[in-house]
Amino acid sequence: MKTLFFLSIFCITFILPAFSQCLDDQKSLLLGLRNSLRFVLSNQTKLVHWNHTKDCCNWDGVECDVFGHVISLQLDNEMIYGGIENSEYLFNLSYLEKLNLASNSFNGIQIPKGLSNLANLTHLNLSHAHFAGQVPHEVLRLKKVDL
Ligand SMILES: *[C@@H]1O[C@H](CO)[C@@H](O)[C@H](O)[C@H]1NC(C)=O
Ligand SMILES: *[C@@H]1O[C@H](CO)[C@@H](O)[C@H](O)[C@H]1NC(C)=O
Ligand SMILES: *[C@@H]1O[C@H](CO)[C@@H](O)[C@H](O)[C@H]1NC(C)=O
Ligand SMILES: *[C@@H]1O[C@H](CO)[C@@H](O)[C@H](O)[C@H]1NC(C)=O
Ligand SMILES: *[C@@H]1O[C@H](CO)[C@@H](O)[C@H](O)[C@H]1NC(C)=O
Repeated sequence: MKTLFFLSIFCITFILPAFSQCLDDQKSLLLGLRNSLRFVLSNQTKLVHWNHTKDCCNWDGVECDVFGHVISLQLDNEMIYGGIENSEYLFNLSYLEKLNLASNSFNGIQIPKGLSNLANLTHLNLSHAHFAGQVPHEVLRLKKVDL
């Protein structure tokens, strides 16, 4: 009995995390984000392959923590050109620690203030993304980001 108890503790601690699955709310935020972004289809390598029948933690460019929260989104070089300004879908992915939007073509819009919602962000890559102007002070206030 005792052995069984320790065995289950062991499983819960060390084995289950490897099978962590995307949480439903995280998945619908990602799908909402994909549907709201404008991008060039023919040059897509990640977004177009996001398949709602699969675990979103395994989608290209997506990484989760052991609980199934999305903590990293690598959408660099995806020919994205719009739809990010007011994307509540993106700004509600509140567990995000890493966001890479580098090498896209946002056509001189401002860096979205909504990014300041992402309080856990530590890595924000906006290089060659064709944002204009200065980094909004809301975003600069993010404590953990090293811009
Ligand atoms: C985008 O796709 C088109 C057609 O598939 C290709 O000719 C072009 O080189 C691609 N552009 C980039 C930046 O990858
Ligand atoms: C999603 O995956 C399922 C199961 O593998 C497959 O049948 C379907 O065609 C895929 N859909 C897209 C849009 O790739
Ligand atoms: C984002 O979060 C806000 C506040 O919790 C909520 O009101 C809103 O409906 C959410 N939007 C989406 C697209 O999930
Ligand atoms: C930041 O991440 C922690 C867990 O690492 C979580 O408890 C917290 O809710 C997250 N912050 C926000 C704003 O969601
Ligand atoms: C930002 O992303 C670009 C394109 O993927 C990459 O080349 C660059 O090394 C990244 N910068 C940092 C600081 O990670």
